[in-house]
Amino acid sequence: MKRLITLRVNGIDEALSVEPGWTLSRVLREELNLVGTKEGCGGGHCGACTVLIDSKPVMSCLYLAIKARGKDILTIEGLKGENGALHPLQEAFVERFAVQCGYCIPGMIMTAKALLDDNPSPTEEEIREGLNGNVCRCTGYVKIIEAILSCAEERNVKSPSKEI
Ligand code: FES
Ligand code: FES
Repeated sequence: MKRLITLRVNGIDEALSVEPGWTLSRVLREELNLVGTKEGCGGGHCGACTVLIDSKPVMSCLYLAIKARGKDILTIEGLKGENGALHPLQEAFVERFAVQCGYCIPGMIMTAKALLDDNPSPTEEEIREGLNGNVCRCTGYVKIIEAILSCAEERNVKSPSKEI
């Protein structure tokens, strides 16, 4: 039986009627039309569905929507700046040609955001380690890691103390 819940997504409270077994990825995509969050494997193996819950990366295909009540959910759509400007990580991915088919990219970027917020100056090794749950089926890892490194370097020059 459906239950009425409120989820806080990208800073907005959303009232929703959900089945207890619905995953967060399903609710984001099918109830809220936030289709930037992708579903790849649907089983916790690829990271395409990664969103941030209370600033931590979570695979939303494994996370029940009702469990997310009272938490802050951030999706790729929530990264856009004023007038739809790209987030610095998105800009870095574009500038470094890190996007091929694009399917893994929202999950990569959400994971990278959590990583850089936690560790503003990661080494290449730490980025590789941080992304180990995110799979790119186009195998574009080198460019993805370069993009995250360059974003971290640029941000540390411009505003070292700020969340990315
Ligand atoms: S779709 Fe969630 S981990 Fe693959
Ligand atoms: S860019 Fe195609 S899956 Fe990563």
